[in-house]
Amino acid sequence: MRKKIAAANWKMNLTFQEGMELVNALLTATKAVQEPCRVILSVPFPYLSSVSALVKGHQWYALAAQNCHHLKSGAYTGEVSAAMLSSMQIPYCLIGHSERREYNAETTTQLAEKLMRCVEEQIQPIFCCGEPLAIRDKGEQNEYVARQLAESLFVLDADQLSQAVVAYEPIWAIGTGRTATSEQAQAMHHHIRAVVAAQYGEKVAGQLSILYGGSVKASNADELFACPDVDGALVGGASLSDTEFTAIVRSLCKA
Ligand code: 13P
Repeated sequence: MRKKIAAANWKMNLTFQEGMELVNALLTATKAVQEPCRVILSVPFPYLSSVSALVKGHQWYALAAQNCHHLKSGAYTGEVSAAMLSSMQIPYCLIGHSERREYNAETTTQLAEKLMRCVEEQIQPIFCCGEPLAIRDKGEQNEYVARQLAESLFVLDADQLSQAVVAYEPIWAIGTGRTATSEQAQAMHHHIRAVVAAQYGEKVAGQLSILYGGSVKASNADELFACPDVDGALVGGASLSDTEFTAIVRSLCKA
């Protein structure tokens, strides 16, 4: 059975105190989370260790870093390696978020290297993909996303891919309040699974969790989670509110 995942991506938001309060509120409100559901909190680097201590003992909670460097180690001031995250027992790492592709000019080759660094360190990558509005308007989203997968994700072998999670985040839906319709999300998730199946076989593709991201809120979560190929969500803005994110987690667990 595929894992169902509600993942929060705090991005560069919340003070340390606000973050700790939010995690405590979530832990109190989401006691009913159980297999096959997971809650993953993707928090800023300096908070990882404290949030890790807070979620200890809550077995369905896990942490993710928002990025890691594509090289193993060295003179790269300000950067964080996969090996460092691994040495702190951080189980997941976002790779290739569209904001990093755009603002940090991350290339597809670097993303492939980051994926390799993660799996070498037993960190499960959450690989983000998704098209800009101009591509969607031209109807070329399927080819665009297939290329993103081929250029980076497919550096992994089948065993390594079985450790990965994919997040489909159409750029036009991120932080805009404009969610993809459940039909658009389902169509793309089905396409991603078919592209993965063509590369790795039906079994591997059938076990891959594919999350939707882009203006997910409590009010649209039920509809998205009802789609057969949507295995959860990667949530930005709404993950900063304990009531909104709790409602999303509850939607996922009952879906
Ligand atoms: P929003 O939920 O704020 O649209 O952000 C989505 C996202 O980028 C999660 O990684």
